Amino acid sequence: MLQTPVEDRRIRRLDEEVINRVAAGEILHGPVNAIKEMLENSLDAGSTQINITVTDGGVKMIQIQDNGHGIKKEDLPLVCERFATSKLREFEDLSSMTTFGFRGEALASISHVAHVTITSMTKDRPCAFRCQYASGKMISDPKATAGLVGTTIHIEDLFYNCLSRRKGLGTSSEEFHKISDMVSRYALANPFVSISLKKMGSKTPAVCTSGSGVVSNNIGALFGADISPDLLHVHYEETTLTTSTGTATFEAEMYATNPNYNSKKNIFVLFINERLVSSTTIKKGLLSVYNEYLPRGTHPFLYVKLKVPPQSVDVNINPTKSEVRMLHEQDIIAALRTRLNDNLLSCGTSRTFNSKAEYLRGEVELTKKRSSLRPSKKIRTDDKSRRLGEFPPFSDASPFLETARAKNKEETFERVEGRLESVNHLVHSFTSQINTGLSDIFSSSVLVGLVDSEFIALQHKTYLYLANLRHLKTLLFYQQILVRFSKLDDIHLGEGLPVRGLLQEYRRHASVEGEGEMETLEDMYVRVFCDETKRDMLSEYFSIEIDEEGILKRLPQIVPGHTPPFDLLPAFIYSLCLDVDWTEELRCIDSLTRVIAEWEKDFGGRSEDEDRFYAGERAEEEEEKVVENVLYPAIKSVLKPTEELIENRSILQIASMEKLYKVFERC
Ligand SMILES: Nc1ncnc2c1ncn2[C@@H]1O[C@H](COP(=O)(O)OP(=O)(O)OP(=O)(O)O)[C@@H](O)[C@H]1O
Ligand SMILES: [Mg+2]
Repeated sequence: MLQTPVEDRRIRRLDEEVINRVAAGEILHGPVNAIKEMLENSLDAGSTQINITVTDGGVKMIQIQDNGHGIKKEDLPLVCERFATSKLREFEDLSSMTTFGFRGEALASISHVAHVTITSMTKDRPCAFRCQYASGKMISDPKATAGLVGTTIHIEDLFYNCLSRRKGLGTSSEEFHKISDMVSRYALANPFVSISLKKMGSKTPAVCTSGSGVVSNNIGALFGADISPDLLHVHYEETTLTTSTGTATFEAEMYATNPNYNSKKNIFVLFINERLVSSTTIKKGLLSVYNEYLPRGTHPFLYVKLKVPPQSVDVNINPTKSEVRMLHEQDIIAALRTRLNDNLLSCGTSRTFNSKAEYLRGEVELTKKRSSLRPSKKIRTDDKSRRLGEFPPFSDASPFLETARAKNKEETFERVEGRLESVNHLVHSFTSQINTGLSDIFSSSVLVGLVDSEFIALQHKTYLYLANLRHLKTLLFYQQILVRFSKLDDIHLGEGLPVRGLLQEYRRHASVEGEGEMETLEDMYVRVFCDETKRDMLSEYFSIEIDEEGILKRLPQIVPGHTPPFDLLPAFIYSLCLDVDWTEELRCIDSLTRVIAEWEKDFGGRSEDEDRFYAGERAEEEEEKVVENVLYPAIKSVLKPTEELIENRSILQIASMEKLYKVFERC
C-alpha cells in the first residue's frame, strides 16, 4: 500500500477527467472492446456493410466504416459526451431494449483515451460532416466533406494517456487475434450484414462475409471449411415451458457439429437476443451433451442463438454487457440439451459407431486386466489355426524390418550422449509413458486389414482390435524424428520448390482465414525462412533444406519406404510458420517435430490430373499397400505405444474368441 501522509488522506471529489478515464477503463480493456462497441453501434444504425481496418493490433489506428443511417449534423457535438444516447429514454425502456447500446458511454470512453474523428452523413443531407473529439468534447466544428450515407469512425493512439493499460496489452498479433475472433462471432450472428476486417495495407481480409444470409457458409468461411459438412441445424421453435418458478418462453437456433467432427479446441458461440455473451452455465450444459459422442479431449463446434423476452434477461450487469442473467436458465438449458441430444442420436452411422466405442471402452479395460483371468476362460481355440481373415504375406521379410532393426542397433531409445539435452528430455517423456500391455499387443499382432482410411483391424491372440491408424502414424513419426534426430535420411527434390509459391498456393486453396491472417504471408516468409539460424536448424536437425533463394531442396525420410504427402506440402510449409513455437529450444523442437509428424501422417500422392474416381480407387489401393508393407511393420517393430493411445482411445478391442464361442455354444 502507498503510504500517504495523514493530512493528504482527506476525502475529495474526484476530478471529472479522472472519473471519465476510470470509467473508460471499465469498458475498454483493449482495442477489441473499442471495436466491439463501434461494431455494435454500426449494427444498431441498420448497416448492411461494415468494414474494419486496424494498424498495430488496433493500438495505433482503428477505422470502422458503415453504411447505416448516419448521425445528424446537429447531434455531432453530443456523440462523445458521456450518457448521451439516442437509444434509451426512460429507465423502464431498459427491459425492452432491442439495440446493443443504451448507456451512451462507449464513444465517450473512447474519446477519453484516444484521438477520435467521426465523419457521418444522413440521407437528408447532400454531404457528410467531419468532427474531431477529445475527452468527451467536440474540438472542431463540423466540416462539410464528401461522403456516402453512413458513418466512419477513426481512432488513433488508443490509451495514449494510460500508459499502464497500454503496456498491459498483448503483442499486435495477439490483439489482432482477439479482434478477429470477436468480429468473426458478430459476422456469424449477422449473416445479412457483410462484415470485413483487415490489417491496414493487407490485401486479404482476415474476416470477410458476403451478407448473403447463409449461416452454414459463414461458419465454413469463418471457423474452418471442415466444419460445414458435419453441421446440424437445430431449430427450436418458440416454446413456453411451465417451470417451478413460472413460465419460460424461448426460441433457439443451434448450429452444431455431428459426431463425425471433433477438434482439439472447442468453439462455442452464444448470442442471446442478438447480443454476444458468455455464460459458463449454458456453455457447460450444452457442450457436455457431446461427452457421449466424442473421444475424450476433443470438442465440437456449437453456435447457439437464443431468443428470450427482453424482460427475462438482465444485460446491465457490467459495463461491457458481456454477462447476462436470464430467468429460468436451467429449464431452458435442459430443453436445449434434450433437443441437441435427439439430433445427435439421429445421426445414424456416427451414433452406431460411437455407442460401439462406449462398449469398447470397457473392453480395453478388460484387456489390461486379462492376465488375471483363468486360463480356461482365455482361449477356446488355437490362434494359429483360426484367424479372422486373410493376412498379407509380410512379417520378417518386410524391407522395413531389416532397416529398422539395423537402425535400432545404433539408435536406442535411451539417453544418447551428444544429442541435444532437449531432445533427450522429449525422448524420455515418451519412453516413461510406454504402456507395456499395448507394447505386447503391437509387437505380436497381425494386421487383419484396413477398415477405412482411419482405422486398421489387428488380431492379437484371440482378440480383435480396432486401432486408429492416424494416431499411430503420428506417434510413430513423432518418435522416429526424435530418436533419429539430426540423422534422418533425405529425400532430394531436384530443382526444388519455391517456398513463397507454396505459401501462396496454400492461401489460394485454404478457405480458413483468421489466425493465419494475423500476419501476411510475406511477413511469415521473412520471419521463418529468411532467418539463417532457423534454416540451419531445419536443415541440420530435420533434413528440411531451404536455400537462400527460398527454394525447398530436401525433405526428411522418416520411415524408410514411406513417401510424405507431397500434395499437402503447401499446408505443411504454412504450418511451419504458424504452429511452431520458435521462441525456446525445447518447445521449438517439440512443436516442429509435431508439425512434421502431423503432415507425414496424411496419405498423399494423389494426382490432380487423374480422373477423380479412378484416382480415388488407386489411392486407396496404394495406401493399403503402404500400410501393409511399410507402416504396420514399423509400428510393430519400433513404435513405443504410450498411455496417450489409451487416453485418446486409439485402440479398442472389438471381439474376443472366448466371448464369441460362448455365444456359439448357446446356439
Ligand atoms: N455508427 C453509428 N451510426 C449512427 N449513429 C451512431 C453510430 N455510432 C454512434 N452513434 C450515435 O452515437 C450515440 C452514442 O454512441 P455510444 O456507443 O457512445 O452510446 P450508445 O450506443 O447509445 O450506448 P452504449 O454506451 O451502451 O454503447 C449513439 O446513441 C448513436 O446515436
Ligand atoms: Mg454504443
